[in-house]
Amino acid sequence: MCGIVGYTGARQASEVILDALEHLEYRGYDSSGIAIHEADGIHVEKARGRLQVLRERTDNGAKLPGNVGIGHTRWATHGEPSDRNAHPHASAGSRVVIVHNGIIENYLPLQEFLAAQGYTFHSQTDSEVVANLIDYHYHGDPVEAVRAALVQIKGSYALGVLFTDHPDLIVAARKNSPLVIGLGEGENYIASDIPAFLKYTRRIVRLRELDVAVVRANGLEIYDPFGNPVPYTEEHVEWDVSAAEKGGYEHFMLKEIYEQPRAIRDTISPRVVEGKIELGLQSLDEARIRSLKQIYITACGSSYHVGMVGRVFMERLLHIPVRVELASEFRYENPLVDADTLVLVISQSGETADTLAALREAKRLGAYTIGIVNVVGSAIATEADEVLYTWAGPEIAVATTKAYNTQLSVLYLMTMSLARMLGRMEDTTYAEYLQQLAQLPDLCEKLLQDTSHIQYLASLCFAKDDIFFIGRNLDYALALEGSLKLKEISYIHSESYAAGELKHGTISLIQPGSLVIALCTQKRLLERMISDIRTVKARGAMVIALAEENTPFIQDVADHVITLPAHADFVAPSLSVIPLQLFAYYVAALKGCDIDKPRNLAKSVTVE
Ligand code: AGP
Repeated sequence: MCGIVGYTGARQASEVILDALEHLEYRGYDSSGIAIHEADGIHVEKARGRLQVLRERTDNGAKLPGNVGIGHTRWATHGEPSDRNAHPHASAGSRVVIVHNGIIENYLPLQEFLAAQGYTFHSQTDSEVVANLIDYHYHGDPVEAVRAALVQIKGSYALGVLFTDHPDLIVAARKNSPLVIGLGEGENYIASDIPAFLKYTRRIVRLRELDVAVVRANGLEIYDPFGNPVPYTEEHVEWDVSAAEKGGYEHFMLKEIYEQPRAIRDTISPRVVEGKIELGLQSLDEARIRSLKQIYITACGSSYHVGMVGRVFMERLLHIPVRVELASEFRYENPLVDADTLVLVISQSGETADTLAALREAKRLGAYTIGIVNVVGSAIATEADEVLYTWAGPEIAVATTKAYNTQLSVLYLMTMSLARMLGRMEDTTYAEYLQQLAQLPDLCEKLLQDTSHIQYLASLCFAKDDIFFIGRNLDYALALEGSLKLKEISYIHSESYAAGELKHGTISLIQPGSLVIALCTQKRLLERMISDIRTVKARGAMVIALAEENTPFIQDVADHVITLPAHADFVAPSLSVIPLQLFAYYVAALKGCDIDKPRNLAKSVTVE
């Protein structure tokens, strides 16, 4: 949510900043703005709507020729999307100009305090107080001013700050909101995420929580919260620019759907060494595993749906009770978590505020925590006791696809590894499962070879107002994911139901012409699903079933069938989600939706 960038160097900063902001569009935004140091002070331009509007207002940046500046894409929380509320915000008197991502929880008392000192406010945002508060503390030293202001701020922030008196530098700081620094030759960058500046540099520094950075064209200084200079470590980003570009696909989402075989392979193969799973978790030894009384999985959205699949698989193999909780509910539930509990925290971004809060609550209660995270060095990855990375590579589309599938892969590996340590998995079953996992990327590739039938079905369905997904057990978790994928990008209303619940109320929604997608990938539940299909068909529904090839009777009862290549039961969720992702994608494409950046949604939800 919200994107921050900053540039200082020899180039025209506005051009670099506009380009960098485009690479952060996936985070979700409704307005944008830019501030550039010019000979006569800092110039600010802001615009509601797409970045194109800002481009037009600045003549593609040409109206702002300076070399140092900051930019922002805003996702409204406090105050409507408007030119006035867009960032950057200047202090009264314009000595300080800021861009902010996060939420200032105590902005009202701060506003009152500053108003009493004579400061005026022009927007409805919480962020404007930051500009004035820094100005209030400014007596010539930018770092001191920012440090002093941050002491008074409650909430979360990633900040980029310009000072009129110091035209050569940007001050940056963060707390519970992502911010990375990019190091170039005679130029440096700040950004909410690496793709913003990846085409210019792969050398990065991750700013630690509460530290303050001073970024100049030829130097970087970082200070701890007490003002002491601290050393920093430079990292090299391994993935290249093409990983964060569309590479010929019309949308990032489609590209990422097609990247799944590679992503799954990259996540599984380095962890299987000579027929044995090596997770590299230093602190998860046999004694700890044997002491576990329960496992909690907590996450949001699609990552939560992965947790639902994980629960079934874990309970089957480990015989340990597993609970799955929405992270946004977890900490309000007084969870019965203690030192004998393993809490798995799943997050693509590693920055989701609710998930991070759940992780912190679990740690406070003494639980042992493992993060399953895609973004290296993110908050959840850093704060969990251990982290298992999903090697999906950068995921840009708001709707997650490849990250979802790699999260599942990590859960399979982890469960099998624990089952083995507990002596609950026979050698032969272990070897068999490993073989099936090794084949999974090829099966995904096979599935992706011909998508014409799914495109055809999408063309039959894109004008529907409601679409129902039903399934049992693992297919219920899949139904939730298929339905979420469809509604988030196509804006079609969709419901997902455990098929057995139909007769307890949902069936009243089914009428002639209703579209029901029936997920039938669990062989042992086939008879029940066939009877559920007959039940909705008897009320006039059109049914698309999803089932393994050669599944008996399905062709006779459903109107259309999407078939999956023959596979082992336990990998069904990884395979069967792919046609649902494609279905959602093609429906949204036929409706002309903004697939990679659906309305009102953000890729990283960094507010609670
Ligand atoms: C998925 O398509 C969604 N965009 C969303 O539900 C997402 O999974 C959720 O916000 C959690 O994000 P995270 O995995 O980055 O924590």
